[in-house]
Amino acid sequence: MAEKDNNINAWKFATNAIHIGSEADKETGAVITPLHMSTTYWQEAPGKHKGFEYSRSGNPTRAALERNLAVLEHGRFGLAFASGLAAIDCVLRLLKPGDKVIASDDLYGGSRRIFTRAYERYGIKFVYVDATNIKNIEQELDENTKIIWLETPTNPLLRLTDLKAVAELEKIKELRERNNDKNNKTINYPLIVVDNTFMSPYFQKPLLLGADIVVHSTTKYINGHSDVVGGAIILNDETTYKELKFFQNAIGAVPSPFDCWLTLRGIKTLALRMEQHNKNAQKIAEYLANNKKLKTVNYPGLKTHPQHELAKRQMTGFGGMISIELDGSFEDAVKFATSLKLFALGESLGGVESLIGHPASMTHTSVPREHRLKIGLSDTLLRLSVGIEDADDLIRDIEQTLEKI
Ligand SMILES: Cc1ncc(COP(=O)(O)O)c(C=O)c1O
Repeated sequence: MAEKDNNINAWKFATNAIHIGSEADKETGAVITPLHMSTTYWQEAPGKHKGFEYSRSGNPTRAALERNLAVLEHGRFGLAFASGLAAIDCVLRLLKPGDKVIASDDLYGGSRRIFTRAYERYGIKFVYVDATNIKNIEQELDENTKIIWLETPTNPLLRLTDLKAVAELEKIKELRERNNDKNNKTINYPLIVVDNTFMSPYFQKPLLLGADIVVHSTTKYINGHSDVVGGAIILNDETTYKELKFFQNAIGAVPSPFDCWLTLRGIKTLALRMEQHNKNAQKIAEYLANNKKLKTVNYPGLKTHPQHELAKRQMTGFGGMISIELDGSFEDAVKFATSLKLFALGESLGGVESLIGHPASMTHTSVPREHRLKIGLSDTLLRLSVGIEDADDLIRDIEQTLEKI
């Protein structure tokens, strides 16, 4: 249903973002994808219908979004979900007791929570490594490894993993060779899964770098207006797609047609928004880089970022996320976050408006403090989701607030 459109070969990103899934409606000529609220579809005879029978298993507005997302990520298939975590959950359904997942050690807290609190109880093992060095991944690979779960850049430390280098690991190729059942078409484990929420497909296309599955919290940049919670999976392999599509329907964490419609509308400006997020974040990161009240400024677009060269190679922009570490106390960090006028203190990221988060007391409360500190996620770390307001106003807001600390 979400099979990629041939136009992908002819059109560039911004054109695909606007047109794929928004072809003029055959019945009415409507330029905008109709919002199909129907839960069920008329069948001429049992099983004889126009491709839709019940909206949990498939809905025309959702199908349009799924097709659009697949094309933007350069994948063959897309699946949309009611949240990013529902998409992540669907991928985890591929696992069985005894399987092992190797994951980046500073993942989004909610991903870590679903791993440890929802899936470990079924006998699935999760191993966390510093994925900035792919040797750490290589060392953990064994015949039980079914998934390598990566976030790049990570949330909130903005550390990168070299995706191409991971995909080229000899050990992964060997394991796939061994697992590949040449007669039956089975999933060729281990799969490389990349959470591409931070970059959006505009700045990074993991499938082109050798990843097998991309997941998104479309709640963030893809929808971009902080008014829809959603998620997505995009991939190329048909066998894996069929399995995931089965789970999408069997479990039923599907988005409403209206949420799909809004997300499609948001995507039309994704290219423009990402350009502006990137411009603003670069300007703010450069301003912050010299501030004496900060211990650290993490932004892949800064030349001082330890993986700046990799960022230039694997991404086409650096995104809108910055994390900073105040030289002060937990209380100073909270005071700073609550004193800003334009950056709203809030969960989430990727909307047109700027947000600030304090991971230690917000997104990462489910990560034990000891582990947080070990990976560099200190009590004074703050995460900025730089919006698309005027960068000068944002800088003035930060400047005036830092003066008070
Ligand atoms: C990188 C990343 N992945 C996944 C999620 C989960 O997405 P959702 O909140 O849409 O369930 C988030 C949410 O903040 C995130 O930042």
